[in-house]
Amino acid sequence: MTSQKERIFSGAQPTGQLHIGNYLGALKNWVALQDEYEAFYCIVNLHAITLPQDPKTLREKTLDLARIYLAAGVDPEKSTIFIQSDVPEHAELTWVLSCVSRMGELERMTQFKDKGKGNRERAGVGLFTYPVLMAADILLYQTELVPIGKDQKQHLELTRDLAERFNRDFGETFKVPEPFIPPVGASIKSLQDPEKKMSKSDENVNGSIFLLDGADTVTKKIKRAVTDSGTTIEFDDSRPAIGNLLTMYHLLTGKTIDESVEHFRGKGYGAFKTELAEVTIEFLKPFQERVNQYDDATLSGILSTGAKKARSIAAQTLGDVYKKTGIR
Ligand code: TRP
Repeated sequence: MTSQKERIFSGAQPTGQLHIGNYLGALKNWVALQDEYEAFYCIVNLHAITLPQDPKTLREKTLDLARIYLAAGVDPEKSTIFIQSDVPEHAELTWVLSCVSRMGELERMTQFKDKGKGNRERAGVGLFTYPVLMAADILLYQTELVPIGKDQKQHLELTRDLAERFNRDFGETFKVPEPFIPPVGASIKSLQDPEKKMSKSDENVNGSIFLLDGADTVTKKIKRAVTDSGTTIEFDDSRPAIGNLLTMYHLLTGKTIDESVEHFRGKGYGAFKTELAEVTIEFLKPFQERVNQYDDATLSGILSTGAKKARSIAAQTLGDVYKKTGIR
């Protein structure tokens, strides 16, 4: 039976600690999309080694990330959850696509320039070809929509270019995917600097509320969050710190932005922060309990079922690619 639903694909790397910005900006949307779409949610462990990782903990972090997807509400009955390296077609298609990619277009990727710290001589080749692996992830599943953050938009443009070029040169093979960038909360900012995105790689841990932070830590971090001058709790372009905290409140409570502003009318920063800390803890507590809802055997069953399902589709696409290119 073939599904009538459109397909979506997204993924996250098993590096660093996931924070509430990852949940509100990405995972929460994944969960919302899984009823309407046929969803594939991947743990991209091959992407992780484009920067040095500790081999002793990478596997553990990979499984932890699967637990976090599940705790967030990604339902293995509805969505396909799998580990990238369990589907070898990702690496295989990357090779073919890298033969279609151009040095010039990869050199224009801003993330490569950032992560490579501008040092071309020492930057890893994997870091350079990272977007080609991401294109393979997406194109293998004939994906229609790709939920991503703004920072990944350029990689999706590249994916579209590669798909179109391949289709032109070898005949219609890949669906050309569209980005799906959620309107609000796409980018929760650092609690310490509202000009910067809340980031897994930020060395200042006080900027982020991690999904596994305990209640005391959460309260402390929110109390320490920078605020703007002024006293009212409102949206105003000149007061990005308060806007960021209000956005968190709005997304965590499900109250509209207007309702949130109304709720805090006449209250001060102290009361606002206390309440934001409370709703954050209220969300995190059951979330953290759900992280441990499955034992190891059940988790590994979910992941191997996911990989099998993913592989049955990926193998078809790769077979077609090999036929069209004369490899098979
Ligand atoms: N590059 C993405 C990130 O760092 C992760 C990723 C890998 C991804 N493959 C993907 C996201 C495919 C969407 C689709 O956020």
